[in-house]
Amino acid sequence: MIVTIDGVAASGKSSVASGVARALHVPYLSSGLLYRAATWAALQHGLPLDTPEAEGPLLDLLHAQTQAGTPLDLRPLPEGNQVWQAGRDISEALHTAEVDAHVSAAAVLPGLREWVNAQLRALTPPFLAEGRDMGSTVFPHADHKFYLHASARVRAERRVKERAQDVDSVEAALKLRDERDVRQSAPAPDAIHIDTGSGTLPEIIAQVLAHLPA
Ligand code: CDP
Repeated sequence: MIVTIDGVAASGKSSVASGVARALHVPYLSSGLLYRAATWAALQHGLPLDTPEAEGPLLDLLHAQTQAGTPLDLRPLPEGNQVWQAGRDISEALHTAEVDAHVSAAAVLPGLREWVNAQLRALTPPFLAEGRDMGSTVFPHADHKFYLHASARVRAERRVKERAQDVDSVEAALKLRDERDVRQSAPAPDAIHIDTGSGTLPEIIAQVLAHLPA
């Protein structure tokens, strides 16, 4: 069984995905964390990300890391995904304002999307996949698809609890990311839409579970 949970930035995808996956006793895969990890690697090596020409050097870097035996390694733990590299958990470095600011530019590069998608498709179901295009593009034949949304204000208020930033600038940054992500964020036509602004986390998780076989 494959379940997909897609949605806009800070719509609560990771928390909902983690809760649903734990209830189902399946792993969840955070595709966004792989985009963040690739972005982090590019920033570490001073690679620019804001032009289409960024794709070649970024893919070369990811390939070289794999060849060297130090690939970006997604670990889909039920309590939260991690990325490890060369024996080190780099997950904490992936949720900074700097990665936030660059990840959408990296995510429009088709070669990077293929790199992420290939890693996800190599995994054996059952699992729950979380991101922007899991139900529409990566797993179009998923058994159950959900799409989470909420107003920019609600999402910004949620995110300032995780980041030491003020709510107006977080809201502006989220709207900018929404615009950049729009191409890969179209909901699958058969996804069930859920507004995460009108309920607590356990209520939203219960709403999703109500659509799934017990
Ligand atoms: O948690 P948040 O929604 O802020 O982001 P995320 O799920 O960690 O994803 C970070 C970024 O990766 C998004 O803003 C997208 O630019 C990109 N992404 C994507 O393009 N496709 C996906 N399936 C998942 C993430």
